[in-house]
Amino acid sequence: MRRKLLLGNWKMNKTVSESREFAKEIKPLAKEARSHKIDIGVCVPYLDLEPVKKILKNSMIVGAENVHYLESGAYTGEVSIPMLKDINISLSLVGHSERRQYDNETNEKCNAKILALLKNDMVPVYCVGESLETFEANKTKEFVKEQIIVGLKDVDKEDVKKLVIAYEPIWSIGTGKNASKEIAEDVCKFIRKILRELYDTKTANKVRILYGGSVKPNNIKDYLSEKDVDGALVGGASLKVDSFTELLRNIE
Ligand code: 13P
Repeated sequence: MRRKLLLGNWKMNKTVSESREFAKEIKPLAKEARSHKIDIGVCVPYLDLEPVKKILKNSMIVGAENVHYLESGAYTGEVSIPMLKDINISLSLVGHSERRQYDNETNEKCNAKILALLKNDMVPVYCVGESLETFEANKTKEFVKEQIIVGLKDVDKEDVKKLVIAYEPIWSIGTGKNASKEIAEDVCKFIRKILRELYDTKTANKVRILYGGSVKPNNIKDYLSEKDVDGALVGGASLKVDSFTELLRNIE
């Protein structure tokens, strides 16, 4: 049985003081999530990581939105895995479409990050998903397959079980134009099929696959009722305490 996972992605939102306020307010949700066997957490900007972690401690997941694959060096503006580990952060998004789009994050770079995170006992949340153009050309599956194959190169069977994959069609992010639950299931199921081919059925059945893209309190249950959708990666609706709370309550 795969545990459900609700993960917020704040993107470039919330100052340190705003993040502290938010963390204090959502802290009680941790117990509620636990009692329903749901993993819950937020991926936040680097500056917010330490203050939010100090408040939430280990009650909820506190993850980074990105990380560099090298340990240290002359990479101005970057943050390394040892820096995250030093403040007890053990999860990071990898290859979010906004980073692929604006920061030249290639599948090969994602692969380097995934391998580095796993080597350090951290959880990569590997984001994949196609543009509107690719979707309309009916090429979603071949596009996503390439992202998975290159992104998971050299990841062994034991490690891949720890990884989370998030399917986020770019055309549904922040647009309110969400993919139907049928589309989400079709692609998540396809991703599991690729995992079966790359590894084996038992391994593929252990990997959690999330859907992301305009997930709101009023549609989250539809997605999570699908067999291969194990949770949601949520942008906009994770930014307000009320809607974050509702997201959780609607899947309990
Ligand atoms: P929205 O939920 O705002 O569409 O964002 C989705 C997303 O990009 C999460 O990573």
